[in-house]
Formats: sequence, structure tokens, C-alpha cells
Amino acid sequence: MISVLFVCLGNICRSPMAEAVMRSKISQRGLSDKISVDSAGTGDWHIGKTPHEGTRKLLDDFRISYEGMRARQVESRDFSHFDYIVAMDDSNASNLRKVPGGEEAEIVKLMDLLPNEKLREVPDPYFTGNFEEVYRLIDTGCDVLLDRIVKEKL
Ligand code: 4NP
Repeated sequence: MISVLFVCLGNICRSPMAEAVMRSKISQRGLSDKISVDSAGTGDWHIGKTPHEGTRKLLDDFRISYEGMRARQVESRDFSHFDYIVAMDDSNASNLRKVPGGEEAEIVKLMDLLPNEKLREVPDPYFTGNFEEVYRLIDTGCDVLLDRIVKEKL
């Protein structure tokens, strides 16, 4: 099983959206028995919570399931467990490196998968309120990531 972990700050807006979108794409391509997806936050404020209502609304609009998803915090063992760790912004990546075991971890930034986008980080909709913009970046980023995983690992 190839495993992917999306990471943001709170694990209620961006990374759960990416988790749900990626899982849906994996399912559509018939790869659910080969690739698993999870998400986590570097912060601990929202542990146990469902995704933010802005993320839920976007996922509802696109009929993408987020059933059972609850926020959790990144743990040291994530670094040995996951094949791909994908950070939403630069501070997520630097916070990941401060977690024990994360110093040397290979971290992909979602926007590095989209070199033609002007934005170099996925903006935080918890502060901007713009969940549509985040969806667009995550949707295209997940397509690129899935193609890369298929090419590299399957
Ligand atoms: P996320 O958004 O990192 O995309 O889940 C945030 C959610 C909560 C907070 C910050 C960002 N917060 O400060 O509580």
C-alpha cells in the first residue's frame, strides 16, 4: 500500500479537503486497494473536530465524502509510516521539521506540484474565507500528485 499524508496547520480546512479530494480521485481510478490517504495538522487546537463548514460545503457541492474524518495532530511515527507527506504551505513544512523525526523527512509542497501557478503556497481559508480557491489548487495538485505516484510507485 502506498500512503499519502496531507498536512496543514489546523487539519480542519485545507488538508482534510485534500484528503477527501485525493481519496475520491483514487477511487475513481480504481486504485483504492493500492493508495491510502490521511491528513493531520501541526497544531493541536482542533483535535477530534470534523472539517470546517467551508470545507464541508465545498465537498458537499462536489459530492465528495468526508464521512468519519476527524482532525488529528502530526506524530513522529507519521514520518516512518507515510510514503508521501504533502504540506500546504511553507510554515507547515517548517513546523513538520520541528517534530521529532521530521528533521530529515522528505516533504512535498502542494504548490511545487503546480509550477505554473503564481501562488507558491495554498492560502489558509480559515483566515481568507476563500475555500473555492483552495479547492481549485487542491483539485489540480491532487491530479498531478496521483499521476506522479502512479508513475513512481505502481
Ligand atoms: P487549516 O486552517 O490549517 O487549513 O486547517 C486553519 C484552521 C485553524 C487555525 C488555523 C488554520 N487556527 O488557528 O485555529
